[in-house]
Amino acid sequence: MRQPKILFVFGTRPEAIKLAPLINTFKTDSEKYFKTYSCSTGQHKEMLSQVNSFFKIDIDFNLNIMKKNQTLSSISSEILNKLDLVFNDLNPDAVIVHGDTSTTAIASLSAFYNKINVFHVEAGLRTHDKYAPFPEEINRSIVSKIADLNFAPTEKAKKNLVNEGIDLDSIFVTGNTVIDSLMLAQKKLENYDDQEIVSLKKIINPNKKIILVTAHRRENFGKKLENICLALLELSTEKDIQVIYPCHLNPNVQSIVKSILNNKKNINLIDPLGYPAFTWLMQKAYIILTDSGGIQEEAPSLNKPVFVLRNKTERPEGVKSGTSVLVGTKKEKILKYALKAIRNKNYYESIALKDNPYGDGKASKKILE
Ligand code: UD1
Ligand code: UDP
Repeated sequence: MRQPKILFVFGTRPEAIKLAPLINTFKTDSEKYFKTYSCSTGQHKEMLSQVNSFFKIDIDFNLNIMKKNQTLSSISSEILNKLDLVFNDLNPDAVIVHGDTSTTAIASLSAFYNKINVFHVEAGLRTHDKYAPFPEEINRSIVSKIADLNFAPTEKAKKNLVNEGIDLDSIFVTGNTVIDSLMLAQKKLENYDDQEIVSLKKIINPNKKIILVTAHRRENFGKKLENICLALLELSTEKDIQVIYPCHLNPNVQSIVKSILNNKKNINLIDPLGYPAFTWLMQKAYIILTDSGGIQEEAPSLNKPVFVLRNKTERPEGVKSGTSVLVGTKKEKILKYALKAIRNKNYYESIALKDNPYGDGKASKKILE
């Protein structure tokens, strides 16, 4: 009997992290049902290969599209042109995509043009503001219009889809696969010290509280990212604080961050970390400041208060349950909340000790079922 062919398409760091446990589950648990293939658009390069090597994802097709300072249009047109060839060559029965990147939206569109089924993992997240996050809010909505199966991480995400008229029978609430990934990394860390962790141990000052920072979103480029950096600079003048910022490779991020924070006392600007080392560092952090989507979902599992450097989030579950606080991008507000968490133990614990609303580590198995 012919086995249906499933093609995973992804291209950026977060998609790879969140699809890795699912791809591995498909490869190991569904061999007799499906043939599983992976296609990387290569929207990211170094930051993607870090993930692929940790999770041992074999890439069957690599579109290799990344260019320095690429534009949304160039990413999109390259993927559209090149994916057609892959679809013609493999003729998959279904394409699985994740989340909200340009890779995700354009791969879905391309699959639709080729009349291939689309299954969407992490479906239904919304802010209802088309410019926040930009362009991810609309990317994710485009996929929802096309997808044949929608794997929503939470009931709230399911409700967003139902409100948009998406067929109820196509929606399954599974939890977020990022918790599966995080648990895999934590398990690996029990008897694992890679070179990055050895280097981190050398820079960490055990007498200080670590503020771990990531910020890279397009809508924060310019003044907002400058404000974030100025807040970090001020925080670093406190005697008991060390700021560690693994900086995204995007030149628009690097230029601002380096111009304000390079070579400053108590601030370590470092390269993006592999997933186990970043997980290790999250565990060591006292608080996390971030505009990342995935980190909002991971931090509560590690009982780390996360302060979100955005005005709106498509992950309101954390804010509602109290595991994360939206602090925006104004310097004074960031300072106020970060210092409060560091100085006031009751406040700290009121955030740190809440349960994670995003999943239980079994999302991949549920999606396969
Ligand atoms: C993309 C996603 C965003 C996601 C982020 C995760 C879109 C529109 N945005 O944004 O949703 O949160 O990935 O990190 O899809 N670069 C490198 N090496 C790398 C990766 C990036 O040098 O391994 C540099 C390149 O100069 C590249 C630039 O970063 O042109 C921007 O990459 P791009 O994928 O366009 O945007 P991100 O901000 O990473
Ligand atoms: N991450 C990582 N190394 C880093 C910074 C982040 O492995 O130096 C992981 C993080 O744990 C999370 C994911 O990357 O799982 C988030 O990706 P990113 O911030 O690039 O994208 P977003 O979540 O904002 O879409």
